[in-house]
Amino acid sequence: MKAKSSPNIALIKYWGKKKSHSDFDRNIGLNPSISMTLSQAFTETEVRLLKHTQKDEIFLDNIPANALDQEKISKHLDRVFDFLQQKRCACYVNSKNNFPMGVGLASSASAFSALTLATLGELLGIEEGKKFLKHRSHDISALSRRGSGSAARSIEGPFCEWVHEHAQQLDLDWKLRDTILILSSEKKKVSSTEGHAVAESSPLMHSRLSHLVVRTKKLREALLNKDLKSLGTLIEEEAKEMHAIMQSSTPPIQYLLPETKLVLSAVEQIKDRDFYWTLDAGPNPHFISERPIAKELKALLKQLNIKGEIWEDESGYGAELF
Ligand code: PMV
Repeated sequence: MKAKSSPNIALIKYWGKKKSHSDFDRNIGLNPSISMTLSQAFTETEVRLLKHTQKDEIFLDNIPANALDQEKISKHLDRVFDFLQQKRCACYVNSKNNFPMGVGLASSASAFSALTLATLGELLGIEEGKKFLKHRSHDISALSRRGSGSAARSIEGPFCEWVHEHAQQLDLDWKLRDTILILSSEKKKVSSTEGHAVAESSPLMHSRLSHLVVRTKKLREALLNKDLKSLGTLIEEEAKEMHAIMQSSTPPIQYLLPETKLVLSAVEQIKDRDFYWTLDAGPNPHFISERPIAKELKALLKQLNIKGEIWEDESGYGAELF
C-alpha cells in the first residue's frame, strides 16, 4: 500500500513540548498551533507486510536507511500495529521525497504522516483504509504526532489546528501560496528535537504562552475571513517571536543567516506589500501570498546580490492513500 503526504508550514508555531509520561503523550506542544498543509512537495511511502522474514526492510529513496532511521521507523510501525491490536510482523518500507532535503520544509512531518497512513492502509486494505482516513483522521493525526509532532498537522488541509493530542482541519478553503527562498540547503546544526528541549529555558516563553491565546484566536479569525493583511501581520510577529525564543534559550540557538535578515528587512520596506513571511527552524524564509511572487523575489535577490533558489508551493488537502 502507498500513501502520499505533504509537509506543512506553521503559522502559529509549535516550539517547546509538554513533559511526556509515556509513548502516548509524546510530542505534545506547549501551545496549540495552526498550519497550512502544502501540496507540491510530498513524501510517498510504500509499506508491505513481509512473510519470509522477522526483520523490517527499510529504505529511504531506495537506499537502505541508516541504523537510527531504521530504529525510528520500526518503532513507529510498532505503534500502528499496537493501535490496531494486530500482531506485529516484519514490513518492507520505502519512503521517497520529491523535494530536496534542506529546502526548508520539515520532511519529518510528511514522512511520519505518510508512514502512518500507508501502514494503516496495508493492515486494513484499501477500502477500509480510505474509510478510516475519512472518519478517523484524528486518530491518524495522533498516531503520526507520536513519530514527529508537526506530522499531526499533515493529515488534513488546507489549514489545521493542533490542540493537545491531534490536529483537525479548520472549516475553510483558501488557496494560498508558500514561496520558499532557499538561502542555505545545509543540514541544520541544531535539530528541532534539541531546540524543543531547551525552549522553556528562554525568559520570553512565559509571556509568549500567555499572549498566544489571543494571537491564535486572531489568526484563526484572519484565516476564516480570508484577510491576508491581518494574517500576514500575525505570522510575521509569530515567526519573530519563535526566533527570539530560540536566540534567548540556554544554550542560544541561531538559525538565521545574515542573508535571511537582509532579505527580510528589504521585504519589510516594500510599500503596500501583499505577501508576508514566516520561518521554520532554519534560515529559509517562507513567503505567504495569494498571487505568484517568485519573479519579484528573484529580482530582490539580484538587487541585494544574494544567491538563492526558490521552491514554489501552495496549500493542499492532506494525505492520500492509493
Ligand atoms: O515536528 P518537529 O519536531 O520537527 O518541530 C517543528 C518545529 C517548527 O517547524 C519550527 C514549528 C512547527 O510548528 O512546525
